[in-house]
Amino acid sequence: MTRIHLILSFLLWQLFLQFQHPCHRNLVSAAADGGGGKWALLQSSIGITAMHMQLLNNDKVVIYDRTDFGQSNISLPNGQCRNDPKEQVLQTDCTAHSVEYDVVTNSFRPLTVLTDVWCSSGALMPDGTLIQTGGFNDGDHVVRVFKPCSSGSCDWHEINDGLIQRRWYATNHILPDGRQIIIGGRRQFNYEFYPKTSTTNKVYNLPFLVQTNDPQVENNLYPYVFLNVDGNLFIFANNRAILFDYTKNVVVKTYPQLPDGNPRCYPSTGSAVLLPLRNLEGSAIAAEVLVCGGSPKGAYTSGQNGNFMGALDSCGRISVTDQNPQWVMETMPMARVMGDMLLLPNGNVLIINGASAGTAGWEYGRNPVLSPVIYRPNNLVTSRFEVQNPSTILRMYHSTATLLRDGRILVGGSNPHKFYNFTGVLYPTELSLETFLPSYLDSQVDDLRPQIISPVSQSQIGYGQQLVIQFSVSGQLNGNLVTVTMVAPSFVTHSFSMNQRLLVLDGVDNVKLVEKSTYETTVMTPRTGILAPSGFYLLFVVHQDIPSEGIWVHMQ
Ligand SMILES: *[C@@H]1O[C@H](CO)[C@@H](O)[C@H](O)[C@H]1NC(C)=O
Ligand SMILES: *[C@@H]1O[C@H](CO)[C@@H](O)[C@H](O)[C@H]1NC(C)=O
Repeated sequence: MTRIHLILSFLLWQLFLQFQHPCHRNLVSAAADGGGGKWALLQSSIGITAMHMQLLNNDKVVIYDRTDFGQSNISLPNGQCRNDPKEQVLQTDCTAHSVEYDVVTNSFRPLTVLTDVWCSSGALMPDGTLIQTGGFNDGDHVVRVFKPCSSGSCDWHEINDGLIQRRWYATNHILPDGRQIIIGGRRQFNYEFYPKTSTTNKVYNLPFLVQTNDPQVENNLYPYVFLNVDGNLFIFANNRAILFDYTKNVVVKTYPQLPDGNPRCYPSTGSAVLLPLRNLEGSAIAAEVLVCGGSPKGAYTSGQNGNFMGALDSCGRISVTDQNPQWVMETMPMARVMGDMLLLPNGNVLIINGASAGTAGWEYGRNPVLSPVIYRPNNLVTSRFEVQNPSTILRMYHSTATLLRDGRILVGGSNPHKFYNFTGVLYPTELSLETFLPSYLDSQVDDLRPQIISPVSQSQIGYGQQLVIQFSVSGQLNGNLVTVTMVAPSFVTHSFSMNQRLLVLDGVDNVKLVEKSTYETTVMTPRTGILAPSGFYLLFVVHQDIPSEGIWVHMQ
């Protein structure tokens, strides 16, 4: 080709790109950056904004926002209305503020929540029942119970005064004995348990929450809590963490402050995960925590004055179980505040949703970030991050994301306003649900994808036992690249997934061929309820980073 030809074809290509649909153009440029993944719209409106989400073991997702937003776009079931003289916006509201989304049929139905669930928290109990705690106003001491059902008739059951203290922006974690701990919340420098026993029917002070409280803007709400492999709780608030023995109310270890000193909790909302737990049979299991994004000190007050500071582009990674733990800092491809961090079935971390300037809270976020990023914790430090293809729907404050059994990510919410505002605002209230499909769901890799044959979904699994798993792979199997993972379904709100943990189960033997395309692997189930508190988990067989569809297993 001559030089002229080259220039001509280049110009034609540019012209072609110009006339493509705008999202196709995005896909082209992002793919050129090595990105992957696809987006699909599931529902243009579920009637409410997905501010809180919890996947249940029947593949239904309980979603709710708040009762003091005004009228939602879906009515309460059976013509009911809520009459609440204390309600700040509407004293009589016949609309629903919670729905149940059915993943399998892609449908939803309204649920009945009668007291305010705004900015609350929750966790699943060992039998799969969702326990939600707290909220605002008339709902701040309420505990709400949702028992999964297949009939489509189950609904919330509300227990007034289920809590001793009001819990608003608190964090819950399931414990090895089946209770849950509820930590902090606005102006609550303490914790309590649910359910309560005669000896634990009280509130325990937690001075760490006083020490990490910024008197002006808090920055320690929705603390990042993880159950460590030694049974203590790793609690991160503001810019530092402790290891905490909740049974004796003592701080076991104090971790160094993040080197830059910037806050990472609400409203400087970053996110955090406990990285996959491996070598579970070893005598010393290593646990690491990764904290990413947020906004710098002063960003909230600055936002109130109309200056939207750039979000943080850093992640801090710390080995919780080290003798001398230190933060190791890494840089994300882009800055992000209000990003959700999710563990994918193959052990990678997805960072999704949020903005690149401002903070969480009312109208204080700017510059939505539409592209998720994948972080590969085991790669060399220079090749851990990969930018993914962007969505077209922005997900600012009060947005959520959670892993589904089939490996897709359910994404919803976004409402930085005090009401439902669809017009006349920078970032309209978002009632849609969409899904992000990581590239492991691409059909090009179908021949590598395992399919679990046995055990069947909903099987009971004990502790410290050999578990034989049969699966098929239609293409060429590399038995050295097969792992089995277990993921706990988490309660998601405000960019944090409570109770999120992923266990990589130890293989007992080499993967065996059973018959054509059918294989068997034997793994050890987790030894203790400290490693895996009793409850439902998603179990995946992963081959060359491609996960099977998950099955539900019940650890007991
Ligand atoms: C929600 O309801 C309002 C009022 O009826 C309507 O204007 C708006 O279009 C609806 N929005 C969505 C996303 O359904
Ligand atoms: C948002 O919605 C509320 C309640 O409907 C309304 O009073 C307010 O004016 C709206 N805000 C804007 C900017 O339109």
